Amino acid sequence: LFLPPQTQLALCHYTTSHDSDGFEKPGEFQPHRWLRKNDTDRVDNFGAIPFGYGVRSCVGRRIAELEIHLALVQLLQAFEVQLAPNTGTVPAKTQGLLGPGKPIDLKFVDRK
Ligand code: HEM
Repeated sequence: LFLPPQTQLALCHYTTSHDSDGFEKPGEFQPHRWLRKNDTDRVDNFGAIPFGYGVRSCVGRRIAELEIHLALVQLLQAFEVQLAPNTGTVPAKTQGLLGPGKPIDLKFVDRK
């Protein structure tokens, strides 16, 4: 199978996510970069498309996003989430999918 270099690059999530052509200051934690700028803003760039794109993209996307939002809201209302001291620095590991190179231990501090 021959893939042109751009396609190979697009398949490596770590590389595309750290490409400053797609993400300004890619090394900085800027959650607001994912906010939509207006009603027509759907996909800023192709650095991150976890549900695919186009006619064969994930049909369960809205359900999945709704469930994720509901779960996160309930969790964050009840707990403050902190990194456990033993977690340290977590390297990225690419195995087809991008994931953590070692376990991420979290501490859930009761907000009450
Ligand atoms: C975090 C959760 C999920 C992620 C990241 C995800 C991701 C994806 C991706 C990447 C594809 C392939 C898109 C493509 O080929 O371009 C896909 C397809 C699909 N997903 Fe999901 N998915 C998720 C949850 C769900 C859920 C909850 C359902 C069902 C309720 C679902 C049903 C499907 C179906 C039926 C397809 C095939 C669509 C087609 O080929 O026309 N997915 N998903």
